[in-house]
Amino acid sequence: MTRLLVAVVGLASLATFAQPAVWTVAPKPRGFVRFTIEGPLDDVNGETRAMSGNFTVDSKAWGGGKGVFAVDLSTLKTGIDQRDEDMREEFLETKRFPYAILAIDSITQAAPAALAVGATANAVATGSFEVHGVRRAVSMPLKVKLDSEARLVASGSFSVPFADYNISRPKRLFLKLGDTAEVSFEVAFVPKQAPKAADPKVAAAPEVKVPEPTVAQVLPPAPKAKPKPPRKPKATLVYTFLFKGDEPKARGERLFHAPETGGPGNKMTCFHCHAKSDERTGLLLKDNHIRAANTLYNAGQRPQFWGGFTKSSGAAATICQKQFMKGAGLEASQESDVQAFIDAISPDSAPPLDYVANNYRSMETLLRDPTAGDPAKGKALADKYCMTCHLDGRVGPVWAPGLYEPDWVVRRVRRLEGHHNKQMPPWTITRLPDSDLRDIVTYLTSNPKEPAVFNRKKGGGTGGAP
Ligand code: HEC
Ligand code: HEC
Repeated sequence: MTRLLVAVVGLASLATFAQPAVWTVAPKPRGFVRFTIEGPLDDVNGETRAMSGNFTVDSKAWGGGKGVFAVDLSTLKTGIDQRDEDMREEFLETKRFPYAILAIDSITQAAPAALAVGATANAVATGSFEVHGVRRAVSMPLKVKLDSEARLVASGSFSVPFADYNISRPKRLFLKLGDTAEVSFEVAFVPKQAPKAADPKVAAAPEVKVPEPTVAQVLPPAPKAKPKPPRKPKATLVYTFLFKGDEPKARGERLFHAPETGGPGNKMTCFHCHAKSDERTGLLLKDNHIRAANTLYNAGQRPQFWGGFTKSSGAAATICQKQFMKGAGLEASQESDVQAFIDAISPDSAPPLDYVANNYRSMETLLRDPTAGDPAKGKALADKYCMTCHLDGRVGPVWAPGLYEPDWVVRRVRRLEGHHNKQMPPWTITRLPDSDLRDIVTYLTSNPKEPAVFNRKKGGGTGGAP
């Protein structure tokens, strides 16, 4: 009953728009434009909210509507700053081609023909899409809805095969990526002029200049994309559980191994960085990797943790979860379960004296000669130290050797100023000696067929060997 009433009121207020009216992208929240590039190994997802547009449509007969809609490409974010910069400069060339522009020339097959508040209507939108200086015909299913605040919300999706838009992909860093971006959008529009006698909540949007397509020639639509080859199976880390059942230590051990212990989108587990076995007999674990951080074996009885930041191992785990696992902090019950697990693998009553605190603030300075090592040795060492995370399908990106600037890699591994790490942990010289790092960096930078694209600042010095 109440619902019906709302619908009727909604329709009454729509009477204002019996004529085609110009709608413009709402102030906030305005919606989003997202893209996904599916690759053989991993997906890259990006998003922006910097968009503008006008949509001329009669909500009582919305078929035949028209619109232009633009996205400021310099604002695309994919979650890795370095990659964003690369995408802008090398890939989309946003200085030359700052906008992606979708022009909708006609809307056909609108059903239902009149928009009603709360109900979704479908149609086919036809027009053109311009990006990177190429404009092609596009056609896509379009959904439109009038929401309860009398905003018109349009959503749809279409594919952008890079080659068809002259975007030269692979060879360099996009080697690892798929060849097509799936673009999806959901954008809210409000009337350009505030409707008379309408809800005072519905403010008119400020005047924004919407970029028009710049390329006169509209090329035919891009052909349909080929189906994607199946993904490689994920190369997960192998382990066995020490504890079973529902005791706190067993729950804590499960948290130790679960990516869900982190926040949304996290793939990293505690076990990617910490062993749970005794390292006094050697740092190399059964899986042939050396962890970046100290083992949690025998860690339970230390007087303080994380270089003195906290006095409990559970609270230390929260620091890690926030810092490296996209988390917002462990819940109190999780902290105590993790602590119970760490206590259960800490048999020595007195903390062992051979433990060296891994406080990364006390690390060695930059390597002086980062490329003077042995690349073959470096590759083998990288298997040990780095492939815990960087192997295909694990948590870190698959490397593109030859594309990195030496100094930048050193800063990243030692987490020194100028690094871009988010989830990658620091390596101290006690666990990764400079000589081994030199070999790894030599391997990572030893294929300089093309200039490095990963560096600290474009054009910045390498700061390494004289
Ligand atoms: C990306 C790597 C990484 C991940 C993931 C990670 N940690 Fe850590 N952790 C570190 C580093 C680095 C330190 C600080 C230096 C050290 O002790 O090696 C640390 C410190 C700790 C400490 C304190 C050790 C001490 O004696 O100071 C505990 C306890 C701990 N982590 C538990 C956990 C738990 C539990 C998880 C999972 C919820 C976790 N960590 C996830 C890297 C990580
Ligand atoms: C615990 C997991 C982990 C370990 C171990 C690890 N990395 Fe990483 N690495 C990551 C993650 C996650 C990223 C991407 C996100 C970020 O910047 O933190 C990354 C990014 C990188 C990148 C940039 C790659 C690109 O193409 O974007 C390089 C280079 C790199 N790591 C080098 C190393 C080296 C060298 C080692 C070994 C000494 C190493 N990593 C060990 C997790 C790890």
